[in-house]
Amino acid sequence: MESQKLKPIYSADEIASTVGRLAREISRDYRGQQPILIGVLKGAFVFMADLVRRLEIPAEIEFVTLSSYGKATETTGRVKIIRCLQVPVRGRHVVIVEDIVDSGLTLEFFVKYLLRRKPASIKVCALLDKAARRKVTVPIDYRGLSAPEAFLVGYGLDWNENFRCLPGIYALSPEAIT
Ligand code: IMP
Repeated sequence: MESQKLKPIYSADEIASTVGRLAREISRDYRGQQPILIGVLKGAFVFMADLVRRLEIPAEIEFVTLSSYGKATETTGRVKIIRCLQVPVRGRHVVIVEDIVDSGLTLEFFVKYLLRRKPASIKVCALLDKAARRKVTVPIDYRGLSAPEAFLVGYGLDWNENFRCLPGIYALSPEAIT
């Protein structure tokens, strides 16, 4: 049964108040500016949609698709660009919007990718921080919620393309991952 596989971690209400806080922090820091928010697909699509609707400043929205997991629950360590950035970011203030930072390898890769394109600044907004699993040091300027070491699903996060549409965040039981 589905409910036996999924342990609730964060409710939709807890997520909504966290997203509101992050939006206020970003709005305060970029007052009078128009940053470009770059969401990392697919996982960040729900978070991005909620975040931008809580901002009190104008912002541009872009997406890239990166992949390092394939169908597994562990990073392969090799990040692939599935869909690259479609607009120039030279001289722009960029905020990377990530669903979850785990090993940090995806974020490290993407920050380097962006730096080559010479933005005015880069900051990182991550809804979930699985800090205990970090392999590389990466800055998180706007940090949402701490994540347990379990594999999480819901609110955009998937396992094999399942569970993205759940409104809350759940830990997937290890027995369900076969
Ligand atoms: P990292 O490169 O190990 O930091 O992983 C970052 C990416 O892996 C995230 O953007 C997610 O797409 C995916 N990911 C990491 N942990 C989880 C998880 O617990 N559930 C679902 N996806 C995850």
